Amino acid sequence: MAEKKRLLTGDRPTGKLHLGHYVGSIANRVRLQEEYDSFFLVADLHMLTTKNTPEDIAQVDKNTRDMVLDMIAAGIDPDKVTYYLQSAIPEVSEMFTLFQSLVTVARLERLPSLKDMARDANVEMSFALLGYPILQAADILCVRGDLVPVGKDNIAHVEITREIARRFNHLYGETLPVPDGMVGEVPTLIGTGGKHKMSKSLGNAIMLSDSAKEVEKKVMSMYTDPKRISADVPGTVEGNPVFDYHDIFNPNKEEVEDLKTRYEAGKVGDVEVKEKLAVALNNFLEPMRERRAQFDEPGYVEEIIVKGTQVAREETQQTLYAMKKAMGLTGVWNRIRRKVEKYEKKKAKTAA
Ligand code: TRP
Repeated sequence: MAEKKRLLTGDRPTGKLHLGHYVGSIANRVRLQEEYDSFFLVADLHMLTTKNTPEDIAQVDKNTRDMVLDMIAAGIDPDKVTYYLQSAIPEVSEMFTLFQSLVTVARLERLPSLKDMARDANVEMSFALLGYPILQAADILCVRGDLVPVGKDNIAHVEITREIARRFNHLYGETLPVPDGMVGEVPTLIGTGGKHKMSKSLGNAIMLSDSAKEVEKKVMSMYTDPKRISADVPGTVEGNPVFDYHDIFNPNKEEVEDLKTRYEAGKVGDVEVKEKLAVALNNFLEPMRERRAQFDEPGYVEEIIVKGTQVAREETQQTLYAMKKAMGLTGVWNRIRRKVEKYEKKKAKTAA
């Protein structure tokens, strides 16, 4: 049997996931887990590039647990994939170091994603943040990933990874695969406020772990067409987040078409449109709630992470060894050690 291709992607441990994460990336992961040998990393070292206080770090285990539990609840089967913690694999940092000479500062400084991250986190561009895509390349290449599903803003980092892999192979000989990036079907989901993309910190997110009641409440207060002061005013469907969500999450296309037609004709109230959306979203989330409850046992998720980290670490050690060998770095150390051995022998002889 031909070996499966590898998929790798990761997330900084910010905690619970929302619908935006689902459509942007999680759906792809669920869909591809059979076809690819999949690795999902918790990128806590990446988190340090913008959040590095002891308080931030103290949250990592809880956030990791919440995030991985959400992925399991969403259908990413821990028996089929490998979940692991980035900072528990020191070889990743070593690989990161070896890649640094393969990218220019100018190339990194041009990336809008890094400037956006600095701005959003309200920090100055640190050396670590500038190196963010190089660390990401280490993540991707450490398990020799072929496919990397990411958000739109991360595609440029996969491009850097491709450049690093090619550059490495060119300089030291064919060693690393050149991975492909992949963006989700709905690259950016608008938040419930209708203005910004869905984000937990902006308070406009529906979480995968929200209760049915919370979902109802959030949907009923969603932004819609502001011109509609009553149900008989014709409304706009285009760019209306309530209908965006209907399109994505309501499998009853007939119902959605009917609501759109009546909305544009001023023949349906916002309340009905929203109530039907809440039902659709809760139908979508209910199986996840059931799975979450089933796996929400202290230690269960942690065990998956520990086992996965061992698997990923072995892969990383293999890749790193192949890299150092190709570079001639193992040779340098071996030659130095051999000289020491000879020297010690000689010393022992003269002493005798
Ligand atoms: N950069 C990703 C984010 O925005 C996290 C990440 C770290 C990642 N390493 C990765 C994604 C490797 C894909 C592949 O959170």
